[in-house]
Amino acid sequence: MKTFRILAAGLVGLAFAGLAHAAGGAQKHAHAPEGGWPFEGVTGQYDKASVQRGYQVYKQVCASCHSMNLLSYRNLGEPGGPFYDPAYPNPNDNPFVKALAAENEIMNQTPNDAGEYEMRPASPADRFRAPFPNEAAARAANGGALPPDLSVMVKARHNGASYIYSLMSGYPDPALFEDREVQKDGETLYQKVLDVSKFEALGDHTPEHSAYLVQPAGQYYNPYFPGDTKPNFEGDPRHAPPGGFLAMAPQLTKDRVEYTDGTEATVDQMAHDVAQFIAWASEPKLEARKRTGLGVMAFLLILTVLLWFSYKQVWRKVEH
Ligand code: HEC
Repeated sequence: MKTFRILAAGLVGLAFAGLAHAAGGAQKHAHAPEGGWPFEGVTGQYDKASVQRGYQVYKQVCASCHSMNLLSYRNLGEPGGPFYDPAYPNPNDNPFVKALAAENEIMNQTPNDAGEYEMRPASPADRFRAPFPNEAAARAANGGALPPDLSVMVKARHNGASYIYSLMSGYPDPALFEDREVQKDGETLYQKVLDVSKFEALGDHTPEHSAYLVQPAGQYYNPYFPGDTKPNFEGDPRHAPPGGFLAMAPQLTKDRVEYTDGTEATVDQMAHDVAQFIAWASEPKLEARKRTGLGVMAFLLILTVLLWFSYKQVWRKVEH
């Protein structure tokens, strides 16, 4: 009886959770790039070249706003890391990792003889350079919004890698927006409005007739960002487009980076690579973990077979 009551309570709770979910603004479901992620599945591994390119995207695009406080440059050269070289088991000696680190100027932790904190090139032992000295500075530079640390972002969001990939490549093309003149208190203001019927990536959600979404100042529409577009939608609110507004402008435009390996830097490619890099950063030991897991499974299998035969052997002469 008691179990029944607990079960029933649980079911009712779940039903309410479902309702609450349905009532909130819906966003488009994040999806993996074509072909899926190579690091999924029992034996999945990161695509090393993609993680390397992803580091380049992070460094050249995201690092001006987002920290990755849990990473040190040496992590890039550790086994499983994108720039691991077996010739340098200690990544602190890896000249490539040293060069990557030295591209970043950081502040010395100890003052010099004159009591000043000097800038110096980072070494592999240093943490990734943070773009802002503290949260207040980060907010001040971003219109009050805080760019979150990306170290474990793949773990912090549902379906993390696919979410980052979809979010970064999912913004409507800025060229789709129109500038609308509005008069307010005798002043002329300009609003960015998007005719949602022209944003084909919405798929089934694309309305047939023109319907405008008004973008608040300093905010950017993204169909994958959780939120509610109803208050800003001029069409039928039941058909308000999925997604929400966030304080991050679209970052990836074609050829925003020039890949050192010659890969064509499409928006899709950069979003794919940077998501894979952040996935690696969130779980750098994934490959080792999977290898150990497989080893353990193989060991258990052999042990089971051995136990079965020894059991047969030991009880051979006993009637039962
Ligand atoms: C000009 C500054 C800036 C740059 C450059 C930038 N971001 Fe952001 N990012 C932000 C801000 C600000 C937010 C917080 C937005 C909000 O909460 O409204 C954010 C939020 C995010 C989020 C969290 C979204 C969520 O679900 O809360 C992710 C993931 C993200 N950025 C990834 C990236 C990646 C990857 C890059 C590089 C390709 C990048 N950002 C470049 C400013 C930036």
